[in-house]
Amino acid sequence: MSPRTKQLPRHVAIIMDGNGRWAQMRHLPRTLGHREGVLRVKEIVQAASEIGIEVVTLFAFSTENWSRPALEVSTLMRLLQVYLGREISALSRRNIKVRFIGRRDQLPRSVIRTIERAEEKTKGNTGLTLVLAVNYGSRQEILDGVRAMMSDCARGALAPGEVTEKTFGSYLYTAGLPDPDLLIRTSGEQRISNFMLWQLSYAELYFPEKYWPDFRKQDFLEAIEVYGKRCRRFGGIGKKA
Ligand code: FPP
Repeated sequence: MSPRTKQLPRHVAIIMDGNGRWAQMRHLPRTLGHREGVLRVKEIVQAASEIGIEVVTLFAFSTENWSRPALEVSTLMRLLQVYLGREISALSRRNIKVRFIGRRDQLPRSVIRTIERAEEKTKGNTGLTLVLAVNYGSRQEILDGVRAMMSDCARGALAPGEVTEKTFGSYLYTAGLPDPDLLIRTSGEQRISNFMLWQLSYAELYFPEKYWPDFRKQDFLEAIEVYGKRCRRFGGIGKKA
């Protein structure tokens, strides 16, 4: 099934929120909510790839998530590894390219190795780009970009006058990717939470009430349909999305 709109977003960014509440409502440990969440990751990535979306970015672990209980942090790291280990062949078959954004150096070595293997194995793929934001924080990304840019300026490789929005974008983790057209945050929360602050400048925002483990393919297609009816103006006076 495809959404009843011809206006597809090129890039959909998703804050997969509500795993903990989904589990707590069922008197289950929070980690089971994350486990169920991985099933939705598979389902939504497949749906996005089927309908021809170019980029999906998933917020899997934020720089602030380290403050969660150790068991929850280690479960999230393991789920990420298991997902990539089990799915990499299927992702490759679907011509999906995997890319990571975030500060890698603070991640466990085994996670870094899994990430690098997934990127290497899928780098030649030309279908959907699946961006996983792991140990990601947007302010940190902006600071890292500013530092790299300043050091290029200091060694004469870049003049301050050459710093445009495009130049700055090329210093971010998302260099080369189009900005998200649509941000989905599940669970009814209506916040950006340090996610892609620069890149979301003109994104359409969509906040379904469902918790991430309940967010199915049909809900994703509905989000795409809602996007198709939005009127994006980019500060001008109007043009349909
Ligand atoms: C937010 O729900 C969700 C997360 C912090 C982690 C999301 C991770 C996954 C779905 C699994 C691993 C990812 C991949 C890509 C395989 P929450 O725990 O904050 O929920 P709550 O607000 O109800 O407590």
